[in-house]
Amino acid sequence: MQRVVRERLSSLTAVCSTTWNEPALDAGAREPALRSLGCLGRYDWPVDVIDLRSDTVTRPSPGMREAMARAEVGDDQFGEDPTINRLQDRVADLLGKEAALWLPTGTMANQVALRVFTRPGDDVVVSRESHAVWHETGAAGANAGVQFSEVGSGGTFTVADFVAARKPRGHLLYPPTTLVEVEDTHNRAGGVVFPPDEAAAICAEARASGVASYLDGARLFNAAVAGNRTVMELAAPFDMVSIALSKGLGAPGGSVLAGSRDQIDAAVRYRRMSGGAMRQVGIFAAAGLYALDTNLERLAEDHAKAKGIAERVAQSEHVLLDPATVRTNIIVFRLADDGPDAPTVVGRARELGVLVFAFGPRTVRAVTHLDVSAEACAKAGDLLLDAIERPD
Ligand SMILES: Cc1ncc(COP(=O)(O)O)c(C=O)c1O
Repeated sequence: MQRVVRERLSSLTAVCSTTWNEPALDAGAREPALRSLGCLGRYDWPVDVIDLRSDTVTRPSPGMREAMARAEVGDDQFGEDPTINRLQDRVADLLGKEAALWLPTGTMANQVALRVFTRPGDDVVVSRESHAVWHETGAAGANAGVQFSEVGSGGTFTVADFVAARKPRGHLLYPPTTLVEVEDTHNRAGGVVFPPDEAAAICAEARASGVASYLDGARLFNAAVAGNRTVMELAAPFDMVSIALSKGLGAPGGSVLAGSRDQIDAAVRYRRMSGGAMRQVGIFAAAGLYALDTNLERLAEDHAKAKGIAERVAQSEHVLLDPATVRTNIIVFRLADDGPDAPTVVGRARELGVLVFAFGPRTVRAVTHLDVSAEACAKAGDLLLDAIERPD
């Protein structure tokens, strides 16, 4: 019995990282475990599975695929891919920056930004539980050699938090703070929108003290839609900004860094160092351009779907969540000590056909996106509530 439970937990980790503190399966064990669960990868799941693990699980629509197939391409390392050039110019304009650079992933965008602004041994002030600290497998320490000071709570922090954490340059003991990073929306905090005025105050204070500012805007379009701002307004205070095309916008890959010409020139070099300089990337850029044309306005629908799910699960006494805090497409809720823990809820939800993540021992994340309908999300809310409430 113990073995069955362990195998099952491990399988869940392998399939959708649903468990907490469980090692991933090695390659040899992975396939039998997947088969024993009756699924070998996403495409073998029953069609009515409602996949809320992330907004990255979307697949390119027929229109997007057609745009990709038609893309005019060239060798991007020679600057000869017209479609990637068009995308980079468009994102630079959208964000109000001088230049932009496409990168395969948001993680690489964050890593490259760190290389642009910091030196090994530097200190970077970031929001607590930011992606760069929790979800990049220690890349910042390995690549840029920086340390993080996590500040604030609930995905945001104040200018006073920044000032208190900032360490001076040239001190005998302190690591110099050379960068402040904001994540908007904040993933682990539940898609929280960073207050724009506070971001502007933090960046102004940073600039006055010679500290650079970077915005991890993987879901900046969600923040803009939820806060009724343009992405240009939200990006304006920051030296450098990244956005993702592969999350709420539904493209199969790609993030874009935008900043000054000099910063982007430096980023080109660090992207190359990371092995991220590719060739005919216009195929990805075409998907990104298509996404910017077609999938921006509809983000509000994802936010409404998330709110509906939040309102439903918050009906459980075991759930600690104020649905009013759910403003974008991510729902993160905590499970009270008197109820089931996160791996239990995730496992039960999975049996009911809803896929969500365990973000911590008693924390669950669900994310809405363009591949799940409003009806499916309403059903997912009901099923998640069942998964939480079901007696042992
Ligand atoms: C806030 C944030 N930044 C960066 C990333 C990294 O993006 P990628 O998965 O493309 O590496 C993510 C991914 O979910 C994210 O949520």
